[in-house]
Amino acid sequence: MTDVTAGTLYGQQVHPRNRQLADAGIEMVCDTHRSQLIAMGLDPRMVRDWSVLECGGTGRDALGWIRLGAKHVTHVDLSADNVRRLQAFASDNGIANLTSHHGDLLEVDLPAGSFDVVRSRGVWHHLADPALGLARYARWCRRGGYLHLNAYRAGTYYYYGVKLFRKLAPLVTAEEMIAAMDAEAVPQNRTGALLDDFFVPYMHTASAAVVERDFARAGLTPTWPRRRGWPPVDHDIRYPDLPEKEEHIQYWLRKDAHHEDARGLAAKLDYHAGEDDLALARDLGYTAESLTAFERFRAKAKTADRARLARSLTRLYMLHSFEISIMPMAGTERHKRVADGFERETAAL
Ligand SMILES: C[S@@+](CC[C@H](N)C(=O)[O-])C[C@H]1O[C@@H](n2cnc3c(N)ncnc32)[C@H](O)[C@@H]1O
Repeated sequence: MTDVTAGTLYGQQVHPRNRQLADAGIEMVCDTHRSQLIAMGLDPRMVRDWSVLECGGTGRDALGWIRLGAKHVTHVDLSADNVRRLQAFASDNGIANLTSHHGDLLEVDLPAGSFDVVRSRGVWHHLADPALGLARYARWCRRGGYLHLNAYRAGTYYYYGVKLFRKLAPLVTAEEMIAAMDAEAVPQNRTGALLDDFFVPYMHTASAAVVERDFARAGLTPTWPRRRGWPPVDHDIRYPDLPEKEEHIQYWLRKDAHHEDARGLAAKLDYHAGEDDLALARDLGYTAESLTAFERFRAKAKTADRARLARSLTRLYMLHSFEISIMPMAGTERHKRVADGFERETAAL
């Protein structure tokens, strides 16, 4: 199960709801596309002439385009399970205009300039090299076509916590965390989120300033949303901050220039790795206590009993992600509660 590089984790453990390819989920994706196209001044009926590339995903998002009437959808995902599931769904439901391929987006060979829309939702920040990913996405899109991308936003409280947990994750295995979550009676959708946040190979949070500079260099013009220039650091926003989802940055981009050499373009871009969310948090000036408490926990965790450590991490993750993050509260208060949580669990180790 821990062979995450082969996509096993993505195909079997995380995103349990999306993997079901249920009607309600597909309809929700379809509605989102429709309203975003309208917000950009485009007629959603245009989609009937569109060939869409869905870069990564359980298959649910690819099916959203089919539901909206796309001429053809090509889907590529790292997980063989996701691809098999989507292919079976398409064949069981008589969907002939969808093809799904198993592969890594940084390696797969697709024709340049051949898609009207290249879309990647919840995937870009998981690529080993997001700048190369952007250059490849742009290359596959036709001039005048669109890219639709989102990324975990750097400088937010939620991803600050996730970066802390990812420093601790090498001390335990996914199997130990599954056993601990069982013992702590964590609900299934939360177990998927924890495994995702702890163990996916890459999680490069992005800052708006960096990616917007890259878009300009790549000849990509943002057309949605109107709001830009998210503040570089903000621990007051809650997660998920619906409907805007301010803990993500997302864009529709029009491709105005073609760069045939993706590697050459990527070499001129900046978003190769994520931001250092811990350094960004230090700039807030009120995070010293939570960072010190975290370091005390980490020092003790290195020699702690593994099963006990896994249960401590489970409780801390639940505190961070499903109590503190989702409540509207000031960043100062959040960091006090994080510090208390780490102190408590340090004593319990
Ligand atoms: C967070 S999920 C995306 C959620 C998604 N939009 C959906 O349909 O539910 C991340 C997806 O990206 C895929 N992925 C991650 N890295 C990839 C890569 N290098 N190449 C292709 N797919 C990748 C995973 O297999 C997974 O399906």
